[in-house]
Amino acid sequence: MTCGFPSVQSSFASGTVPATSVIGLQWGDEAKGKVVDLLTEHHDIVIRYQGGNNAGHTVRFDGRTYKLSLLPTGILNARVKSVLAPGVVVNPLVLFQELDRMISGGQDCEDRLLVSDRAHVICPWHMLEEAAFEKSRGGEAIGTTMRGIGTCYRDKVGRFHAIRIADLVQRDVFAARVREIVPVKQKLLDALDPEGTRLNADQIIDEYSVAADRLRPMVADTTAWLLDALDRGKRLLFEGAQGSLLDIDHGTFPYVTSSSSSGCGLHSGSGVPARAIEKMIGVAKAYTTRVGGGPFPTELPDATGERIRRAGNEYGTVTGRPRRCGWLDAVATRYGARLSGVDSIVVSLLDVLSGFDELQICEAYEINGTTTRDFPSRCQDLAAARPSFVRLPGWTEDITGITQFHDLPEAAQNYVRTVARLTGRPVELVSVGPDRGQTIVMPER
Ligand code: IMP
Repeated sequence: MTCGFPSVQSSFASGTVPATSVIGLQWGDEAKGKVVDLLTEHHDIVIRYQGGNNAGHTVRFDGRTYKLSLLPTGILNARVKSVLAPGVVVNPLVLFQELDRMISGGQDCEDRLLVSDRAHVICPWHMLEEAAFEKSRGGEAIGTTMRGIGTCYRDKVGRFHAIRIADLVQRDVFAARVREIVPVKQKLLDALDPEGTRLNADQIIDEYSVAADRLRPMVADTTAWLLDALDRGKRLLFEGAQGSLLDIDHGTFPYVTSSSSSGCGLHSGSGVPARAIEKMIGVAKAYTTRVGGGPFPTELPDATGERIRRAGNEYGTVTGRPRRCGWLDAVATRYGARLSGVDSIVVSLLDVLSGFDELQICEAYEINGTTTRDFPSRCQDLAAARPSFVRLPGWTEDITGITQFHDLPEAAQNYVRTVARLTGRPVELVSVGPDRGQTIVMPER
């Protein structure tokens, strides 16, 4: 598998970078999958280290489109091993649905996957609890993906009702855990919704045990395995899911996901020490999107937002929900870039902005009479933020076939340079379409 783009191979994915990470700098859906796919060719192992099947990555490969949710993007490459590390939450039923879709699409990839024995298992009660809790928040709902992600992480941190992959693959241990946990969960579910679903411990044990039998050969102590791989000079590629602004500690709490989705989560989620990562790449859309609730200062709840949504096909890969769209927020993106410590930025979906007379980028917020470039820690302040915009001329040309920066319309070049200036990080790559070749490597500075 080659990316067909020599300059990407030489400068963007240099063989001198043994451990690279790709992180989203906004609220997710930044087209990280394409960037990971471009880089996979130059690595030996691709690792997911947080989140679960709340993620959605679309990758075009050999003329087919693959929608990945839990599986690392590297799974498409027969030479590469893919790892679900300890920080991931795994729904085993979903894992095999996804693997079966890959297999029926001609990708026989089951033996390329390793799953950490330390990863936690999403069980049916996690989805049910999440639905009940979200319902109870009414208009304040977080707008989760309903995949049981947050409720599984809550049980992991709480410890009493957690099940790990190591437990799942020991039939007796798993059955005992389920029988112990189900009565407690049933009480909780009944309290939240007396008319709600009844859990059936036997059925859960049977269904999950079938998956466990198939999973067993893939289960490993991936932490030790990855550390050994590093020692042997293997090249590791870390695939972030969601985005920096959805990080549980540093994002727009409570409208966040339940994992460390900024660069901060890479080390705890994978077990690979920070010093091993040689390059952090941040991916930012040329505009901003958000799915679910929470403040969004540059949102365009109007015809312009709808135009971006249609041009960018901004509908959730996992849930199909229309994404909220707005102008690029350089305050938020700069925060994401600083937080994740990225060396450079990939600007994705620049082509979506073709055809606008004027474009805007938020360079500062005014919050309660004070102008700031700092991203606020409180959602109330972010909700009160009035964006102050830089206005830039647009361009009319279709740029989807352009592969050299100097061939872009002057206004598009200017837009990319402004992104670099306002976010404080060099732009390394610009994506102008979903295919690998629709990629512009920035000239050396
Ligand atoms: P959860 O991760 O399902 O708990 O959802 C929490 C918040 O994160 C919601 O606003 C979701 O829409 C958002 N979210 C979760 N995963 C993704 C993703 O992959 N892309 C974009 N937003 C996401």
